[in-house]
Amino acid sequence: MAKNDDLFKKVVAHAKEYGFIFPSSEIYDGLSAVYDYGPYGSMMKNNIKEYWWKSMVQMHENIVGLDAAIFMHPTTWKASGHVDAFNDPLIDNKDTKRRYRADVLVEDYVAKMEDKVQKEITKAKKRFGDAFDEEKFVTTAPHVVENRARQHEIIKRMSHDLDINDLADVKNLIDELEISDPDTGSRNWTEVRQFNLMFGTKVGSVAEGTTDLYLRPETAQGIFVNFLNVQKSARQKIPFGIAQIGKAFRNEIVARQFIFRMREFEQMEMQFFIRPNTELGEEGWFNKWRQKRLKWHLNLGMGAENYRFHDHDKLAHYANAATDIEFNFPFGFKELEGIHSRTNFDLSNHEKFSGKKMQYFDPETNESYTPFVVETSIGLDRMFLAVFSHSLVDETLPDGSERTVLRLPYVLAPVKVAVPPLLKKDGLPEEAHKIVKLLKYDFNTVYDEKDAIGRRYRRQDAIGTPICVTVDHDTLTDGKVTIRHRDTMEQQRVDISDLRDIISKEVDMRYALERLEE
Ligand code: GAP
Repeated sequence: MAKNDDLFKKVVAHAKEYGFIFPSSEIYDGLSAVYDYGPYGSMMKNNIKEYWWKSMVQMHENIVGLDAAIFMHPTTWKASGHVDAFNDPLIDNKDTKRRYRADVLVEDYVAKMEDKVQKEITKAKKRFGDAFDEEKFVTTAPHVVENRARQHEIIKRMSHDLDINDLADVKNLIDELEISDPDTGSRNWTEVRQFNLMFGTKVGSVAEGTTDLYLRPETAQGIFVNFLNVQKSARQKIPFGIAQIGKAFRNEIVARQFIFRMREFEQMEMQFFIRPNTELGEEGWFNKWRQKRLKWHLNLGMGAENYRFHDHDKLAHYANAATDIEFNFPFGFKELEGIHSRTNFDLSNHEKFSGKKMQYFDPETNESYTPFVVETSIGLDRMFLAVFSHSLVDETLPDGSERTVLRLPYVLAPVKVAVPPLLKKDGLPEEAHKIVKLLKYDFNTVYDEKDAIGRRYRRQDAIGTPICVTVDHDTLTDGKVTIRHRDTMEQQRVDISDLRDIISKEVDMRYALERLEE
């Protein structure tokens, strides 16, 4: 645990020091849960967007893009259910004045119970060695069986309480479990209250003439309200999808963990419109998108063991099935992406609230219906954190020296090529500039002459640059340069005329996209 805490601190510090992520308005001591992306961060974010957008829109004839406004007519949020149901149950500690999500306090309590189970399993594994049968152990060892049953009971009670909005019983549960303020141990709690997560604002110049608006808490509603505009103008037939990348805003109360939970963040969402009742089952669209999205993640090569599905027992107000793709962040497995089967909830409600038909005439079946929707929704910032934290590694090299290297998947690295001249003289800088000029139309390429060559390599390692192309004195006569690969640190002498092809095979998005089609 301590090791992971240290890693997480290192992630935050590295992101700032190397120009990936800064706290927002830092000169005024920052703004909680809001961050700015620096030179390398903004480039890497764009690369993640490109990977997602191309895999969705460019690779699918039946998925088209949209860029809807952040502000929407306020009735949108009534129809979507966000005004009434987009709440977190909050509780305050009267002594510390700290505010917590009541459900998270209970979930953390249950997670600690599960930690105990895991410790028992590890102990038993050690004791019994190869003969250990984990399945048998967890279904027969009395401690474990009782503990797991109790966990189940607690979560079931809380889920039921939240479903029927029995907040008093959530408070009773917190009291019964003797859950205390995680920072101080105080158990002096207020009642549990619902708190809406949408940010409100006003549009208009005079007090009487203003309209209350919300900053959108998800990008999806911009897609739903434009469903027919897009379907007709892009001449799409069901099944088809609409993809969008854009900002979303939530007044998160428990806003911790850096860019994992932010108040202003970006989502990459795709709504896939399908015939009713074709969503569930092995062959259903929900399962297809579940598998396709996992493949998109695995394709980055960050290890299958770092992903898992978490199917929801407690469904959001709009879903008949939902799963999270969880990633192994430095603070454990947490939601990275959500895949939701949203039925026709949103389109039907927009039809009801707007009085406008949201139906589709299916020329193949000769019927009109309100399409069902399977949604894939991933937080861009959360994806950034997954990639960045996984990639940051401290290594001891064979000669005993240390290096910090950001082993970003090559397609996502902000700078693809650095061109350091070995020395800052003898015509080497001029030759290096020529190489930058040769490569910069295809790859994000930088010229780097500051400090000794070893330090320059370390700096490029720290920002994750996959390839360095070093110009030395021989280059001037033989037209060759040395390519250094970030991960292996292997060096290879190649002709300048071959550079473009060699680098392209390593870093081009094209190859990552091709693998998705296999
Ligand atoms: N349209 C469905 C929707 O918004 P969600 O599960 O609330 O579903 C989808 O959010 C994804 O958006 C999450 O899996 C997460 O990656 C990201 N996300 C949600 N809230 C976030 C926050 N406060 N900060 C950063 N990312 C967030």
